[in-house]
Amino acid sequence: MKVKEKQFDLEYINKYASQLTIGNGFFGIRGSQEEDYRNQVRGMFIAGVYNRPLGTESAELVNLPDVVKADIKIDGEHFSLESMKVLTYERALDLKTGELKRCTVVEISNGKKVQVVTSRVADQHNQQQVALKVAITPLFADCQIEIVTGIDGQQTNFGTQQLVEKELRVFGDDLLGASYQTTESNIGIGISARFNKKGVFQAKNRRITAAFSEMVKKNTTFTLEKVVVLSTSLQHEKPFEQSVAQARQSESYTKILEQSKTYWSNFWRDHRVTIESTASFDQFALDFAAYHLQIMTPRNDASVSVGAKGLTGEGYKGHVFWDTEIFILPFFLYQFPDIAKNLLTYRYDRLAGARQKARKHHYQGALFPWESASTGNEETPKFAALNIKTGTRQEVASAAAEHHIVADIAYAVQEYMQATDDQLFLETKGKALVHETAAFWLSRAVKVNDRLEIHQVIGPDEYTEYIDNNAYTNYLAYYNVSLAVKYQVGDSLFLKECQTFLEQLYLPKANEEQLIPQDDTYLSKPIIDLSLYKERPGSQSILLDYARSEVNELQVSKQADLVMLLYLLPTYFSQSIVAKNLRYYENKTIHDSSLSKAIHAIEACRIQDSEWAYQLFQEACLIDLGSEPHTSDDGLHAASLGALWMTVIFGFAGIQTTDGQLTISPQLPENWESMTFPFVWKNHSLFFELTKEQVIVKKDSEEPLPIFYAGTQYQLKKKLIFNWRNESCVS
Ligand code: BGC
Repeated sequence: MKVKEKQFDLEYINKYASQLTIGNGFFGIRGSQEEDYRNQVRGMFIAGVYNRPLGTESAELVNLPDVVKADIKIDGEHFSLESMKVLTYERALDLKTGELKRCTVVEISNGKKVQVVTSRVADQHNQQQVALKVAITPLFADCQIEIVTGIDGQQTNFGTQQLVEKELRVFGDDLLGASYQTTESNIGIGISARFNKKGVFQAKNRRITAAFSEMVKKNTTFTLEKVVVLSTSLQHEKPFEQSVAQARQSESYTKILEQSKTYWSNFWRDHRVTIESTASFDQFALDFAAYHLQIMTPRNDASVSVGAKGLTGEGYKGHVFWDTEIFILPFFLYQFPDIAKNLLTYRYDRLAGARQKARKHHYQGALFPWESASTGNEETPKFAALNIKTGTRQEVASAAAEHHIVADIAYAVQEYMQATDDQLFLETKGKALVHETAAFWLSRAVKVNDRLEIHQVIGPDEYTEYIDNNAYTNYLAYYNVSLAVKYQVGDSLFLKECQTFLEQLYLPKANEEQLIPQDDTYLSKPIIDLSLYKERPGSQSILLDYARSEVNELQVSKQADLVMLLYLLPTYFSQSIVAKNLRYYENKTIHDSSLSKAIHAIEACRIQDSEWAYQLFQEACLIDLGSEPHTSDDGLHAASLGALWMTVIFGFAGIQTTDGQLTISPQLPENWESMTFPFVWKNHSLFFELTKEQVIVKKDSEEPLPIFYAGTQYQLKKKLIFNWRNESCVS
């Protein structure tokens, strides 16, 4: 269970930095190298610490002062994997322990050979702490070792300074502290670092460092430990003082590592999806996804959510998209329902901003921002790429028209309700979310002759902008409003309006070729050969050949759109409609968004094309783990990681939870012998074991729980065994 970098290569430095991130849901620290390299982007993020730099319209997740950097000198020579002769090198993040460790032996210019081991681990017990270590062993001759490390507030977000320095201080001879404040959001940040040795301190220009120097005998090890405590005014009144006080009592590296080991061993024991197969990569990709989902998501804090890159990089400015409700939330809902509740509470607490946005655009109810940060206001940048020839900027249309996010949030509320029956949440938050989102759709639809239509939207497919009657949006809006009726939210007049909406809303149906039009014009647009672009998914290479406005006029989809609809509302469409549309639309989809392949894989399972499903799943695994050098430089694709878990559970295991009924209908890939996974359903912890012959479902209590298999309802007490071949069941 290790994410390994076997060779140092500058081309991959930032991709590995994302992959090798350590964290604990409170903070994330990129796996950058200790020493500086050209183009290396360091990163440390705390969930919820956003700031809006002067002159910009959107808040950014602040790249906090660096604590990882260590300048090492051996006999006066700077340690560098670029300039020194590297004899051995391996860096690995051990998913079993949470420790990132680099072991290397270098030869310096005077011929001496030295082993340099650096490691770090996030504290899983006290989430404010991270422990770092540098251990240097001269192998055949004594060496002079010098290390300079500290807290470096010169860190920026792609060059933007987010913090002002408040205080840089030294306490005794082993502890230093720094206090900063974000420039606009005024969040106080306190960072302290305690060492296991006495240092010589220096402070200048938002940076404070400690220097350590020692003559080290051959075959003995010089070990420097640094425990860093992070504190913010979001949690503590006096973050600087709090971090210093904590650091004074900080634990040793070994203790923090032990705690991390215990945490991860419990996590894997209780939450690992295991696959027995000839392809070990599948297991690895799932472990990788679970590890990262776990460290990027706040464990017990509803005031923050998960950004599109988690806490692994600056990409998308740390903003929260529909990715969270539709792609990330399921992993938690069916394992840690309280975390799913927190993610929905984050939206509930931001209803004010969503209402304000709706009013601004003359709608009722709540129009949630396409991109969200801390305030609940729209954070989508107004412009994307600059055309340097014309000086014009491409406007980002999502904030203005990608309104499906409203229904996506309501959808997630219903997912949560189905899985938990949490009446308290429904009464205190769920109903308000359903009411306000439904009210938005009532005002968003327009009457055309005798039916209601939804015009000028962007569906999930961002390559088709400002279209009418996007099937995904219309159906999800319908579903959203039907929830309002189901839960009887609002007064009788409102409910009457909801009824009328449901009767009159146009839901695009399959045409004579069984195709559901993605929108009013999609199917009448020209078709082009996409094979070249499909070879490089995620690269948006089509935009090098066509202007965006031209792509808009073609049958080209960036990502699952109609297929996304088939996935979210499985009972609305027959198997043959799914088969026909899946094949048709996949052929028109470049998968330039990471939110695409896995959803297609799930639908391919549904039409029992498990070979295709498996191929799509494996391709989805490569989104962050493939060999292309720069694809994850600015962070991992959080939604894609969530979607890998979804593919295995909802696709290969064939779990469906629609209408509050738990159904299982597996479709294991050819080379998988078996798989097991935990699944929390209606407050029961279930455990599934799937083989080529059987499905075994276990639960702790005797209380009967209905489960559907092959169209029949069974009552699960402690154990049920379904036989695949003859569709029989033994309890
Ligand atoms: C996708 C969106 C997604 C966003 C953040 C975009 O490229 O088209 O669907 O929400 O990335 O992941």
